[in-house]
Amino acid sequence: MTAPSVTPSTGKSATTSTGTSTGTSTALTAPAGVGPLLHPFARPAARPDEFVTIVRGQGAHVWDDQGRRYIDGLASLWYCAAGHGRGEIADAVAGQMRELASFHLFEKFTNPVADAVAARIAGLAPMADARVFLTNGGSESVDAAIKITRFAHALAGQPERTIIISRSPSYHGVTMGGTTLTGLDPNREAFGPLVGDIVRVDKDDLAAVETVMTQNPGRVAAVIAEPVVGAGGLYPPAPGYLEGLRRLCDTHGAHLIFDEVITGFGRLGEWFGSLHFGVQPDLVTFAKAVTSGYQPLGGVIMAPTVHGALAARPETVLRTGGTYAGHPAACAAALANLDILEREGLPARAPEIGARLATGLRAVAARHSLPDVRGAGAMWAVGLPGDLAAPAVRDRMLGEGAIVRPIGLATLAFCPPLMIDLADVDALVAALGKALDAA
Ligand SMILES: Cc1ncc(COP(=O)(O)O)c(C=O)c1O
Repeated sequence: MTAPSVTPSTGKSATTSTGTSTGTSTALTAPAGVGPLLHPFARPAARPDEFVTIVRGQGAHVWDDQGRRYIDGLASLWYCAAGHGRGEIADAVAGQMRELASFHLFEKFTNPVADAVAARIAGLAPMADARVFLTNGGSESVDAAIKITRFAHALAGQPERTIIISRSPSYHGVTMGGTTLTGLDPNREAFGPLVGDIVRVDKDDLAAVETVMTQNPGRVAAVIAEPVVGAGGLYPPAPGYLEGLRRLCDTHGAHLIFDEVITGFGRLGEWFGSLHFGVQPDLVTFAKAVTSGYQPLGGVIMAPTVHGALAARPETVLRTGGTYAGHPAACAAALANLDILEREGLPARAPEIGARLATGLRAVAARHSLPDVRGAGAMWAVGLPGDLAAPAVRDRMLGEGAIVRPIGLATLAFCPPLMIDLADVDALVAALGKALDAA
């Protein structure tokens, strides 16, 4: 490894269509026929007929506007743990909206559902005496975690601890902080200067983490890691890696942040990935399955090692947080969703679903000479050989009534709702087999 040096992170400079010193500009126009909706992580030039219009969901299934049924093999976007069409969550949200649709949490105010959700999450958290900061989703949670770790160190008398170490590959969202942390080069290109004091190292390389820490004594605020890399390619950690991160953070006085936006709330069989791997972080970012996506909600869970510093002086103000943090409708959805996950024992189903997926995917991989099957809990992926493009295989699987997610060209990810029955798991695997037969 080459020792990373700490410099402000910059993106590659963007090509711009506005005039610069020459005063010229290039008028670029969209092709005819594109719709008004610009889709995230999609080609702006895509025409409306290139999209699948999803109109309904029930259980592990969704339907398009042509009446075709699909098995939701990625729990929408890794989040729908409880499955679709849960009237209980819809009722909880509607009831809350009638009682108190919204009121903010800034400074002086609170609401009962935000208090209840924080207490519930603190009770499930992988650390004792946790406190919970609420946001509207994963990216905001990641940015909040960056601010909170730096602020907590500053309050503890170490304002020079500003470096955050992240890994490649990884995915930490789309805010400027999350974009800078994310270890996927294409996601950072063309967006101009990014956030400073963020250093990326290879994902399982403990020595690289140690090098950054020893070369920057007293400067590292935190290491951030997904317990299992999700949208960055789906990679479980090397044995001992997460424990090694904990040890290095303890030795060098840094916080350990687990980004559990995908692994939180049952995906690996325990409420949090940190519990699954038996490694205790100082901060946990969460979103997605906390509401199973029925409402947007995310947050940051903190151990006393972090929130102790925030609250130590009565005059300290935490000057961050969004207008909709602790939105009552989102919190009501979370409480109803957590009731379902708990009552139906859905986290405990993850190993069973994962084992069935892994067995099926390995059989398909053997038949089609796929290079790799990898995963943990109920999140799995197959690696594809160079002559098979993942988006094309995904498209064929859509034709077989199964939705999975391509990651780059060489990976297909599977992460179904935790209430899926095993026959549907088998059908997902069969759809992959048929798609590969056709390819
Ligand atoms: C680990 C991780 N962190 C952060 C995010 C960003 O979350 P959001 O899309 O809700 O902003 C994601 C989204 O997939 C994620 O997987």
